[in-house]
Amino acid sequence: MKIKSAAFVMSNSKVEKCPNEPLPEYAFIGRSNVGKSSLINMLTDRKGLAKISGRPGKTQLINHFRINDNWFLVDLPGYGYARASKKDKKTFQKYITSYFEQRKQLVCSFVLVDIRHEPQKIDTEFMEWLGENGIPFCIVFTKADKLKPAAIEQKVEAYIQELLMGAWEEAPDHFITSSSKRIGREVVLEFIDGINQQFFKENPR
Ligand code: GTP
Ligand code: MG
Repeated sequence: MKIKSAAFVMSNSKVEKCPNEPLPEYAFIGRSNVGKSSLINMLTDRKGLAKISGRPGKTQLINHFRINDNWFLVDLPGYGYARASKKDKKTFQKYITSYFEQRKQLVCSFVLVDIRHEPQKIDTEFMEWLGENGIPFCIVFTKADKLKPAAIEQKVEAYIQELLMGAWEEAPDHFITSSSKRIGREVVLEFIDGINQQFFKENPR
């Protein structure tokens, strides 16, 4: 899929105030600093579209980006941001949860995990919560540039095996990406395109 346009639409902390066009929407979620905003910039090929920082906790709100004028990408704050105050964490938690529970346009969420790490409870519990709530998701392994090809394969295999030994009977769809090396761009965009086509077949405009 070609990205012809990518525009920031709005930031807010209330799911009710998100854009109300009936367009398919994809949300990026994961721990702080995992690379959600970087991935959005890589996919759209727009360097400064989503705000990036080496310090965790950069993205603080629900950020909507309209792509090709017919679908949305959503950049969310990270969960598990250690330096946020307890009160801030609670507020984050609440609006992220409401976003996932209430956002009807959400057709697929991408749960980002750093490819170098073993499965972390905060991520696997979040995936289980998505599953229990019937919210479709895929896993996106980020920062693949940090590992050699053989290690990439071994890490992904081990991660998926651990999910299969836990709550999952089937491996969720998963993608290997690197925003700095632009790995995984086409596959993720084609995946989104496939869902978009299905969406517009079922919801003709
Ligand atoms: P929050 O908004 O704080 O939740 O973080 P985020 O998940 O949006 O992460 P962000 O995209 O801001 O990136 C965090 C840091 O990781 C930045 O220093 C990025 O340059 C770096 N980073 C992101 N993606 C990659 C990648 O694919 N490879 C490498 N090597 N670094 C990356
Ligand atoms: Mg961010």
